[in-house]
Amino acid sequence: MSILIKNGRVIDPANKIDAILDIFIQDDKISRVAKDIQTQAETIIDAGNKIVAPGIVDMHAHLREPGREDKETIASATAAAAKGGVTTVLAMPNTQPAMDCSKSVELLQGIINKDAKINVRICGTLTKGRLGQELSDIAALKKIGARALSDDGCSVDNDALMLEALKQAKLAGLLVICHCEDKKLSQKGVINLGFNSTRLGLRGISNESEYKRVSRDIELAEKCGASVHIAHVSCGESVDIIAAAKKKKIKVTCETAPHYFSLTQDALLEYDTNMKMNPPLRSKEDLAAIKQGLKDGTIDAIASDHAPHTENEKDIEFERAEFGVVGLETELSAGITELINQQILDWPELIQKFCLNPARILGIDRGSLTAGSFADVVIISDQLSWTVNKSTLVSKSKNSPFLGRCLKGLVDYTICNGTIAYQR
Ligand code: DOR
Ligand code: ZN
Repeated sequence: MSILIKNGRVIDPANKIDAILDIFIQDDKISRVAKDIQTQAETIIDAGNKIVAPGIVDMHAHLREPGREDKETIASATAAAAKGGVTTVLAMPNTQPAMDCSKSVELLQGIINKDAKINVRICGTLTKGRLGQELSDIAALKKIGARALSDDGCSVDNDALMLEALKQAKLAGLLVICHCEDKKLSQKGVINLGFNSTRLGLRGISNESEYKRVSRDIELAEKCGASVHIAHVSCGESVDIIAAAKKKKIKVTCETAPHYFSLTQDALLEYDTNMKMNPPLRSKEDLAAIKQGLKDGTIDAIASDHAPHTENEKDIEFERAEFGVVGLETELSAGITELINQQILDWPELIQKFCLNPARILGIDRGSLTAGSFADVVIISDQLSWTVNKSTLVSKSKNSPFLGRCLKGLVDYTICNGTIAYQR
């Protein structure tokens, strides 16, 4: 198999490349990146006027299999991912069963080997059953191939247990991904705490419930020298705390999700459950702080936090609806619309947050176009627009917060390990 991509604007932050170049792919690897490559190839793609970048490394997605195949499967999620330009995804462990032991990880790995259209890496749990009571066998999870550890959806409330988890993760060489939420503070909240929650008569989730836990997790990481990654940062105070920790050289990285830089709590005024996620959409000041954090480098990565739910679980009273939104198919376009077009980030910076930084954080050899590396490439028509609607979403679940919105940028090709995984 060989693919020659001609005349695209190749953006590869790992190699400081932003130029009109050709890329030659042979089998599963990038063979050459150069001007005007003259060679035979089985497939030739004209990428004139298009962006050519490494495939997206989405370090936070809920793929639901095993256990909730009615919401999503490895097959449907990875098809959605390929359509969104994603070539590697980290599967969050809140499946049924949870990814808390070798047996479960093996089960999932078997499904991935059979059904996945892109690279799927597995995140194990920090605690058994994600119950925050007893640590998972972290060494065994590492041995079986888990890439990181998280109780995502929950935070480990017990400080001593979290410290022990961080110590063991450090020993195993695994990254800990923190869902930062103090449920004593956020309890039963369904939207951001503020004027809107009062006006709508809904219980609020304070910024404090997030940033206090961000502070604690960073403190514990500092204490034992472990690396922590803060998931789905949604508020300004969290950004400030992470910036201060980075200044102190504490090993902390973080991500945000597209909805936090695209939408505010005002999107909830119609009780739209597709705007309900945890953490919640915040104030416009928080949104500005997220954008600033992306711009100044405090926020390292953008991840979808893809969280599919069925219509039965979403099309009900607001309080009872599940938290979460799908995002694999819209993340890149949301980034182009909100960050490139509003001049918050330039193209190399955007690609760095979607591809290179998450790959580096996870310690995987992806996210670049270096010759010799795996050929994970996305080709994007950045000038085209599309309107998000249920019928064109490939994901099994349709709970997108962007339904009806016009977004900029369409993926033309997603190439994963040298094979075309998606073509528009
Ligand atoms: O909105 C969310 N949905 N936040 C989480 O932390 C978990 C996720 C899910 O699994 O549905
Ligand atoms: Zn999550």
